[in-house]
This record gives sequence, C-alpha cells and structure tokens, in this order.
Amino acid sequence: MSDIDYLQDPLYPTPNVYPPKWSFDNERAWQLYRRAKREQWDEEDIDWNKIKEIASGLDRKQRLAIAYWWSLLSNFDNATPVFAYAVIKGFEHHLDTAVRGILTTITYDENRHNMVCGLSIDSMMRGFPFQFKPMDDLERKAMLNVEWTWYNGARYWRAYLEAYSKYTLDVLFTSFMMGEAAATTVFTTMSKGSKIEEMRKAFRNTAVDETRHYAFTHLIMTDGASRMTDEQRKLVTKQVRAGFVFLSLITYKPPKEFWRLPPWFEEVNERMEDLARGAGFYIPELKEKEEAWRTALVRVGATLARYGVKIPAIPELGITGEEIEVSEEEFIPIF
Ligand SMILES: [Fe+2]
Ligand SMILES: [Fe+2]
Repeated sequence: MSDIDYLQDPLYPTPNVYPPKWSFDNERAWQLYRRAKREQWDEEDIDWNKIKEIASGLDRKQRLAIAYWWSLLSNFDNATPVFAYAVIKGFEHHLDTAVRGILTTITYDENRHNMVCGLSIDSMMRGFPFQFKPMDDLERKAMLNVEWTWYNGARYWRAYLEAYSKYTLDVLFTSFMMGEAAATTVFTTMSKGSKIEEMRKAFRNTAVDETRHYAFTHLIMTDGASRMTDEQRKLVTKQVRAGFVFLSLITYKPPKEFWRLPPWFEEVNERMEDLARGAGFYIPELKEKEEAWRTALVRVGATLARYGVKIPAIPELGITGEEIEVSEEEFIPIF
C-alpha cells in the first residue's frame, strides 16, 4: 500500500464506528443521559433471601405460577442484545453523542431487568423451565407455555435484526415507543399491587427505568418527526399495532397474529395467573389490563398525533383507527 497519500485525510470505510466524534450541544439528550446515570440501581440490593423465605412458605403450584410469570416477562426483558445492537448501529451511523450514551445506559438497564427475571425465577423455582420436572399435566403445560413463548421470542429476534436493513434508525427507535409505554404501565401497576415487598421494590425501580426509556423514544420522535416522510409515518402506525400484538402476551392476551402457541395456552395461563394472585403476587385482571392498554395508547396516540402519525385500529380494545395488518417481518417492539 505504498501508493497511499498520507498528506490527505484518510477516507474511512462506511458504515463504521470510526472515526470517534463528539458533540456537546444536544442539551435535551444530555439531560436524559445524566438522568440515566443518576437513576441507576443494583438488583442485588433487593433482598433475595427474603423472597426465598417467602417462597418457602408457599405451596409448589404457587411458586411455579410466580416463576412462570417471570419467565414470560423475560421474553420481553431479554433486551440487552436488542439495545447492544442498537448501540453498534448508533455508533456506525454516528448518531448524536448523548443519544449513543443513552442507548448504552438502556443496554445496561435491560441487563439488570433480565437479571431480576432470572433471580426471581431462581428464588421461586430453581432451574425453571429447563431443569424443571413437571408432576402433572398442568405443570407440564405451563412449562411448555414458557418454552413456546421463548420460541416466538427467537422469531422476533430475527425480524429485529433484519429491520435494520429496512428502516432508518429514528423510525426504528420510535417503534420502541409502544413497548416502553406499555412497560411503564405494567411495572407501575405491579408495584402497587404486589404483597411481596421486595418484589414491589424491583417493580418500582424497573418502572423508573422504563419511564426513562419512554422519554428516550419521545426525544427521538420529537427530534426526527419533522423529517419523517408519509411512508415513515405509516410505518410508525404499523409499529404501534405490532407493539400491541407482541406485548399483549404478558400485558393482555395474545392476539391471533404473529404468535405460534399451544392450543391450551390461554387456559393454562389464566390458571397460572390465578395461582400467583392467590400467593399475593399481583397480576391485574383482564378489565384492568384493558384499561392499562387504553391509557398507554391514549398517551402514545397524543404524542404521535402532534406529528401527523395516526393511531392503528385496536378492535380488541374497541379502539378505532387505521386498519393495519402486521406481518411477521415487521416486528420491532421491545420493553
Ligand atoms: Fe426492560
Ligand atoms: Fe425498556
């Protein structure tokens, strides 16, 4: 390579994380980044021994039901790689310095949420589901419910990776909006209802993180909306519907679209929820879940409307809007 003219600036290959660049003028993003650093917490400050002590006073089915719920949740809080990948893409596309910083903190947040899922499962039913030995039909079906939910998570992951070749980063990050709004609602509700104090604490702290994640999607939305084309606006509408379809498994009931689940899924899921409720683990009833979704949709819808983005029809909740059909390849929502 002796023909390189070193007196010229080098030509960097693109997309690439090099050269490193910094900018310090996006004050709103810097504020959110600072808030993210301030609001960090440690999942090991939760008294897991106390939770194990409570677990030892529950019967087997109740412990299983609580482990089951956390396992379903982990499908959505397995989001460390989702944001780690976003960090890489954010650097490759030289996004704003503070925005990259925020994405980095969300990666760490999601890792913490994933740890909480694992520690909760471990405290209730060590080794569930892969080392779990079911003792009857219900237990076996509950275990399979979890495994098939995770199988759908694997399908989702593939769609997510491909999404980066189809969408611009701001459309993609705006698509997280519904997920973060739903997550905020879920964790706030759970923290108010749980009789297991240490789990309340975990939910409360997680809600703080998810509220901040929502603020991040809001920031991206308000920064990028004016540049969005009509086609991109339509994509965001679609993603709100995709968010509902994907997250409804844990926050409502799984719609027919996307999900490939055993025929007994809902029946067994309801029995598990009732068992967990009986153990003092708060899970909202269907009416409350519907109300939570309506609240989240109104909140997201109000923001989107300001930027000319329409809300999709959610006939399940009696919400009218754009008729949207989402196919498997179009999924990008996440907690
Ligand atoms: Fe999360
Ligand atoms: Fe989140």
